[in-house]
Amino acid sequence: MNTLDICIFVFFLLPIGYLSYCCYQKFYLPYARVKQFRQIAKEITALYVDINPFKVSLDFRKNYSTLRDEELVYGEIEIITLLPFLEIMHPQNNDVFYDLGSGSGKALIATKLAYPTLTVKGIEVMAELHYLATDRWHALQQKYPARLASANIDFICANFLDQDFYDADIIFINATSFSPETWQKLVSKFNNLKKGCKILIISKQLPEALFKTLYTGSELMSWGFSTTRLYEKK
Ligand SMILES: C[S@@+](CC[C@H](N)C(=O)[O-])C[C@H]1O[C@@H](n2cnc3c(N)ncnc32)[C@H](O)[C@@H]1O
Repeated sequence: MNTLDICIFVFFLLPIGYLSYCCYQKFYLPYARVKQFRQIAKEITALYVDINPFKVSLDFRKNYSTLRDEELVYGEIEIITLLPFLEIMHPQNNDVFYDLGSGSGKALIATKLAYPTLTVKGIEVMAELHYLATDRWHALQQKYPARLASANIDFICANFLDQDFYDADIIFINATSFSPETWQKLVSKFNNLKKGCKILIISKQLPEALFKTLYTGSELMSWGFSTTRLYEKK
């Protein structure tokens, strides 16, 4: 290499390479990720096209008396709202994600599609919604047998107050309809969560003494905009 070659490399090729890398990181990767999230949202819409989870929940509630009816009122986070939140939480390969009150499983399945290496677990008390979630997951597995054959996904039909979820690295809770009593009981279980566990909550808050607030804002749900908070366990 002569001096001219070195000058061309240092003053021309190196800056261009660095600039291209920065543009790729800053613009292309986020663009590609948002595009992928849109595709996943479309996939979920197609998966549930012939079934209405709101109606499944309503029909079941007519005969369900174990919990107060308002606690079971159904609603969904928009997939295109959820996935960018997960992205800013930087899930690690073997992290464990929970949806507490996972309903029809849309958020759980979308999370699995966006982050295939995560272990994802949904706890849903209403049996009909639980069956719907497992049924839709099996339908998706049949569509993509190679890709989804051995996925770590767990649908648990139970009251989350009776469950341990202390292996969680990320928790999502659409808590809009939970009563203050249920919320208090759930929050008291959070004392045992791992330090650094991230918790995304719709409509409710956590005590500042135990949790650092990372984000507060208003985000789109199936019923309109709702207060959304992201916390980290101290
Ligand atoms: C607002 S929906 C959220 C569905 C889903 N997580 C989403 O955001 O798209 C709340 C769900 O929590 C369930 N649920 C309410 N109380 C519960 C409890 N104690 N244990 C487990 N699930 C519960 C309801 O049946 C309902 O499906």
